[in-house]
Order: sequence, then structure tokens, then C-alpha cells
Amino acid sequence: MAKYWQRFKDYYYDNKELGLSIDTSRMNFPDNLFDLVEPQLQRAYREMTELEDGAIANPDENRMVGHYWLRNPALAPFEEITAAINNSIERISVFAKTVHQGMIGPGNEKRFKNFILIGIGGSALGPQLVSDALWTKNDYLKPYYIDNTDPDGIDRVLAKIGMELEETLIMVASKSGGTTETYNGMQEVRVAFAKQGITFTNNAVAITMPGSKLDLLAKEEGWLESFPLWDWVGGRTSVTSAVGLLPAALQGIDITSFLKGARSCDEQTRQPNTSVNPAAQLALMWFHATDGKGSKDMVILPYKDRLQHLACYMQQLVMESLGKKYDRNGVEVNQGISVYGNKGSTDQHAYVQQLIEGVNNFFVTFIEVLGDERKDNIYITGNITSGDYLQAFLLGTRQALTQQGRESLTITIKHLDAFSLGVLIALFERAIGIYASLININAYHQPGVELGKKGANMIIDMLAKSLDYLQQNSGETFSVEEIAAAIGNPEDEERLFKILEHLSANSNRGVKKICGIDPFKSRYTTI
Ligand code: F6P
Repeated sequence: MAKYWQRFKDYYYDNKELGLSIDTSRMNFPDNLFDLVEPQLQRAYREMTELEDGAIANPDENRMVGHYWLRNPALAPFEEITAAINNSIERISVFAKTVHQGMIGPGNEKRFKNFILIGIGGSALGPQLVSDALWTKNDYLKPYYIDNTDPDGIDRVLAKIGMELEETLIMVASKSGGTTETYNGMQEVRVAFAKQGITFTNNAVAITMPGSKLDLLAKEEGWLESFPLWDWVGGRTSVTSAVGLLPAALQGIDITSFLKGARSCDEQTRQPNTSVNPAAQLALMWFHATDGKGSKDMVILPYKDRLQHLACYMQQLVMESLGKKYDRNGVEVNQGISVYGNKGSTDQHAYVQQLIEGVNNFFVTFIEVLGDERKDNIYITGNITSGDYLQAFLLGTRQALTQQGRESLTITIKHLDAFSLGVLIALFERAIGIYASLININAYHQPGVELGKKGANMIIDMLAKSLDYLQQNSGETFSVEEIAAAIGNPEDEERLFKILEHLSANSNRGVKKICGIDPFKSRYTTI
């Protein structure tokens, strides 16, 4: 054990101001790794400085990348940006306070009790992480999320709210203002309002880019407010913009501390000295563990129920940022790091068996929170608490991994609060920026996502055409091939088959399947 202790001391990063420490000693990197990668790290530091100074760090979209300004507006390269950020934070604080005081609300001495945030990807994952991590029983508003176009998922949220819809503030969050899932969620909630005879627009707030389709709609219909975010804020790094701040402030979370945590972490991680820069150390560990090629997966294991959303949040942050076909020179590289995880010790009874004994294609990031946040001790056996067990399971798994030659690093925070959550988020954001420089990719665009969106539009088009065709020929029966030919998609039988299976499984869609001797001999008709 003495060898572990020495290495632990050699590579232990501890920062009292941030309440953060990082232990990289259980990563099997050689002692000269820091020196070997130093030139690339120096380039990464320079690039991060340029980015923070307002360089076009996302050349494909010709955009600056300014999430660091959101928590230190004075850093922004133009005065108008500084003023816009300050103004937005001020408006968010005032709006939340006014809602809490009941001065904005449903009237008749009622107050907003709940909110639903309708958004997806970066416009939901960060807010959900913050909401769940910092929830208290005294929250001003109870948070709900609609982050998909799943009708049953939407109904589930609406059923939980029931007749309290009038006392529910609706935030529609979409940077682009044109994301389909978010638009659908908004329309579904409108219908729910109409069914209860309530005016949707009296409860609605937009969070979007000024001038977007959503912004224009909010203004035209006279929604309560439209809060801005800007083209220089990426969706996955928007949690310190109105996207994260507004729901947090409404819930009652201390957004000043949250921003302060992020700002303080930015200050520490801006230093061009790897030995005192925790974000650079993380990036370096990713570089080492995955050979700079994503050859190993990142398992996120927070030992804290409140951080259960962290793995999902990190999935977008890491995989949408790093998962790229081309590097910045246009060379095909197919980069990325796969991320998964949930929470410890729960996962110990699920997939940790494979981590310890199975295929060695991962490295674990343990997140340890020292504070158990219990005032009175409850002893399980002797003087041992549940929190003692939680830590014991973390340390036990960490040791078991080491013994089996599997790598892990541990990030420790003292307490989970608004400040430390801000620290963690800023830490990972900066690590992404540095790592992207190390592997020479643009972390700030997501060209691949468009392919799937285009594919979905084609499906909707085919679906509409096949419904029309069946209705125009009501009473007749058709095979998949016949419909495909009739609607002008003769090569698309497979996708049409899937569409018809979906339609006919939902009796309210007016399509009936007459089963054949095998799935492909079925015929379809109107009901
Ligand atoms: O399609 C991917 C994506 O653009 C993400 O990058 C983004 O966070 C998400 O969709 C939601 O986008 P928006 O906030 O514009 O609705």
C-alpha cells in the first residue's frame, strides 16, 4: 500500500478555494507524461486564451465561443456583450423574485407552484442536472421537464400536474427556436391548457436567441417574457446562461453562488501550468487513457443520488463536442469518447462486475462528495452510518479496479451546493476545450446531428403521403410495396413498413393492418 500512498501524494490536486480535489494516481500514466504532452498543452492554453478573447473558435459556423463570459461578463470582448449578459442575469433575478412574491402569477391570490421546462439536449440536460442536484423541500417552484416528443412521456408529466396547470409556469427553451421536439412539446402543452380553459400565453416564457422563430412567436402572442441567449453560447454549454439560470432561480437555487463557483473554477483552470490546472489534468488523463483516440470509454460514477443526471449531462457535453468525423485540418479521424454511468453504489449491482473482471475498455471517473448532508446520525451498525458505507463502496470499488489493472480517477468535492456544482460544470467544460485542442478538433459544432434530423423529416413526409393515399382510397387494401409505389417512394418499402406498423398499432390513427402469412404479406386499409 505504501507505493499507492506515495503516488497518491505525488499526483493529488487540492484546491481549498474551490473545495475540490482530484486524485489521478490510479491512472497508469508514466511519470514523464506531463513533460511529453507539455507542447500540445501549451498550444491548448494559447487557444483557450484566444477563445476567451473572442476568436472565432468555431470556424465552421463562424462563431465565437463565449460560455466563460456568462459567469464573468467583464471578460467579453465587446461592451454590448458584457451589458447583455449583465442585463439578462438581472432580468432573471427580478423575474424569479416577482414570481416568488406572487406578483406574476395566475391571479386570484394564487401563485405559480410548478414549472415545466420544455427543451431538449443542452436546453434540458443542464437544467435537469441542476434542479435535481440542488432540490430542497422548500423550493419555491416544483420542477418538471418535457424533453421529448413522446406523447406518453408528455401525458405523464401533465398527469402529475393535473389541475395545477394554471399554477404552472411554462418555459420553452430552445437556442435555435426551431427544434422539432421542443415545438411539439409546446403545442401539446397548449392543448392541455386549452382543455382546462386556461390561456397558455399568460403562463409562458421563452428562452431563445433574439429574433428566432420562438422569440417572434413569444412577442407576437404576448408571452410573459423572452429571455435571450446568443449564438456564441453552445447548447451543451448553456447551463450558465438563461437556460440554466432561469429555472434554477425560479426553483429557489442561489444562482449567484452557482455562477461564482463556475467563475472561480474558470480562474483556476485558466492557468497555463498543468500542475495547478485541474481541467488540464483531466484532459491529460483522457488523452492518456484513450490514446487521444477515444479508445476507452469514460464511466461517470458519482456516489451521490443527487448527481444521477451528471452522466447524461456529460454524455452530451463530451460526445457532442468530441465525436467528430474530421479534425480541424479536414483529416478524417472519427474522434470521440463514449460516456456512460449512473451512480454508485447502485451501479455496483449492475455493470460494475464487468468493469472489474470483463473487457478493459474504460476508465472510471469517481465523483465523491464528502458531506453526507445529515444533521443527525443514524447508525446502521455500531457507530457506522449509511454515508460511511457509501464512501466505503466507492473506495472498495476503486481498489478492486486497481487490483485488476483498471484505471480510475476521483474528483472530490466537500459539499454539493450551488457553488460546487458551478465548479464541477466549469471544470468539465474547460477540460473539453483543452482536450479538443490536444486532439485538434472543433468541439463547438455538431454537423452529424443534422443527418438524423433530415432523415426524420423524410419519414414525416412519407407518413403524411401514405395517410392521404389510404384515406383517398378508403375501403381498399394495399401492401407495403403498393403504397410505396403509389406515393412515389418505390425504394422506401422498409421505412414505409415501419411507419405502417406504427400507425396500425394506434387505433386512433385510422389505419388497420390485415395480417398476412408473414409480416411482409400484411395489407393495410383505413378503419
Ligand atoms: O440537435 C442537437 C442540438 O442542436 C444540441 O446541440 C442542442 O443542445 C439541442 O439540439 C437543442 O437545440 P435548441 O436549444 O436549439 O433547441
